[in-house]
Amino acid sequence: MNRIGPNVFVPPMPVALVGAIVEGKPNFMTVGWVTRVNFKPPMMAVVLNKGHYTPKGIMEHGTFSICFPPIAMEELADYCGVVSGRSVDKSKLFDIFYGDTETAPMIMDCPLNIECRLAQTIDLPTNTIYIGEVVESYCKPGCLTDGVPDITKINPLLLTMPDNRYWSIGEMAGRAFKDGLNIKEKLHGK
Ligand SMILES: Cc1cc2nc3c(=O)[nH]c(=O)nc-3n(C[C@H](O)[C@H](O)[C@H](O)COP(=O)(O)O)c2cc1C
Repeated sequence: MNRIGPNVFVPPMPVALVGAIVEGKPNFMTVGWVTRVNFKPPMMAVVLNKGHYTPKGIMEHGTFSICFPPIAMEELADYCGVVSGRSVDKSKLFDIFYGDTETAPMIMDCPLNIECRLAQTIDLPTNTIYIGEVVESYCKPGCLTDGVPDITKINPLLLTMPDNRYWSIGEMAGRAFKDGLNIKEKLHGK
């Protein structure tokens, strides 16, 4: 094993656009650090550097969105990660819709959108974790299979760091909570 140092990342990460209304206008920033953090109620967390513009809106309205762009939106998604709403108006880039909270802007062209109400923040040295309770999630009808988001139809944009590259998904590799049962049975019996 090679030691590669502590500055390491989860490979790969889904790319998300985190949306909030800042100073009266929808704003979106690109985020790779996003995850589900609670089972019941469903909660999501996004990890944002201090000093970005989007957190201002999250704190003002207590709401935010997590929108997952498809590969086709790669350039737009990257753009939202290299310019700040503080100096550039990002409100007209997308066809936007709103859910029950009315203050979490979501993106029509994103196959999966998650609407969150801010539940908690955790302050870390350079970043703040914004934890939101999921109010609702929205999936394009063409991206569902049996009522569940289908990754082959969503075609999500993936990211690796620190090499800063975007990727698409590969082949399905197995079934979760099932394929380990063979070993379990061999080692521990039925
Ligand atoms: C691929 C990519 C991933 C990023 N991931 C994060 C992230 O997880 N957290 C973060 O705070 N900034 C992240 N950024 C940087 C912000 O998106 C960027 O600074 C953005 O301009 C902030 O926008 P705002 O000032 O309008 O909020 C990422 C940028 C890119 C291009």
